Amino acid sequence: MSRAAAAFPVTHPTGAYTVTVGSDLLPNLRQIAGIKGDIALVSDSNVAPLHAKKIGETAVTITIPAGEKHKTLDSIRGIYDQLLAAGIDRKGTIVALGGGVIGDMAGFAAATYLRGIPFVQCPTSLLAMVDASVGGKTGVDRPQGKNLVGAFKQPIAVLVDISTLQTLPKEELASGMAEVIKHTLLDGRFTLPAPITDWQALVSGAIQVKRDVVQEDPFEQGRRATLNLGHTFGHAIEQVSGYAVRHGEGVAIGLVLAANLSARLGVCPPALQSEIETILSAHHLPTRIPADLPAADLYKAMWTDKKKAAGKLRFILLRSIGDAFITGDGIIIEETAVMQTLNALKTKA
Ligand code: GLY
Repeated sequence: MSRAAAAFPVTHPTGAYTVTVGSDLLPNLRQIAGIKGDIALVSDSNVAPLHAKKIGETAVTITIPAGEKHKTLDSIRGIYDQLLAAGIDRKGTIVALGGGVIGDMAGFAAATYLRGIPFVQCPTSLLAMVDASVGGKTGVDRPQGKNLVGAFKQPIAVLVDISTLQTLPKEELASGMAEVIKHTLLDGRFTLPAPITDWQALVSGAIQVKRDVVQEDPFEQGRRATLNLGHTFGHAIEQVSGYAVRHGEGVAIGLVLAANLSARLGVCPPALQSEIETILSAHHLPTRIPADLPAADLYKAMWTDKKKAAGKLRFILLRSIGDAFITGDGIIIEETAVMQTLNALKTKA
């Protein structure tokens, strides 16, 4: 008999939902998520062939080509058209089956289609399980930067079927570990077991870190921004690489850069950077900026990121493990310091 699923309630300003973590949950989607009407399944060309059948009958299955470069308003337009063609009304539910790109786009479509219909997140990547599927952020990229158009749209349920990790390519698993490692750096109570044998426990632990943060600050007015540790740098790396660098890989390098910048500004000991590098390397994640990404381009890309405020770049820095903070008026980050950090951590050509 398979192990019992774990359930984590998440409250938000307009209600609550449950994140259920367990094995072989997808065949019981309707019952677990309490769906009565039509299901409009949104998935991608990698995930749909592997897992869509497990969901059972759907009114429409919308399959988007896999990859961050398809996280666009054009894809959203395609989703609207297929929802309309299938006659999905407000009693229908959009189910996102896939990684963060699918969850973000399906959620944005659900936030806007007919002025909003219910949606359920079924994350199939480690990254989406521990981060993107919880907390209600949805949206798409623009050529100017990532996630620049979107909405907060809370799901009615999140089903984390860890069986889907069995088919996840190993680079994608490593990419997801970057967000898990980020959660260990944000909350000192959550630590990584070595070796990892119990994925249900690991995913549950990482989700609880995220849950605690988004419950306290659902609209990112304060503490939630610390979840962006490593992301100001990471998004720039992803964007300048033309998305050849995966999100988790960008975040991994971004975590090292954040520690380097923190030490440079004297807010943490220099040893923290090598401590983080050791953890990332043990999980097959990069720790240096690819040689072909010019520091000046990365710096420029940071200015299109949402994480700037009042004309200043905003970074999440670390004092120590479990003690991250957002730079604000009290601490000015000069371009020189950022450029020194970018140049210090470039892969030697
Ligand atoms: N992924 C960061 C957040 O949900 O706030």
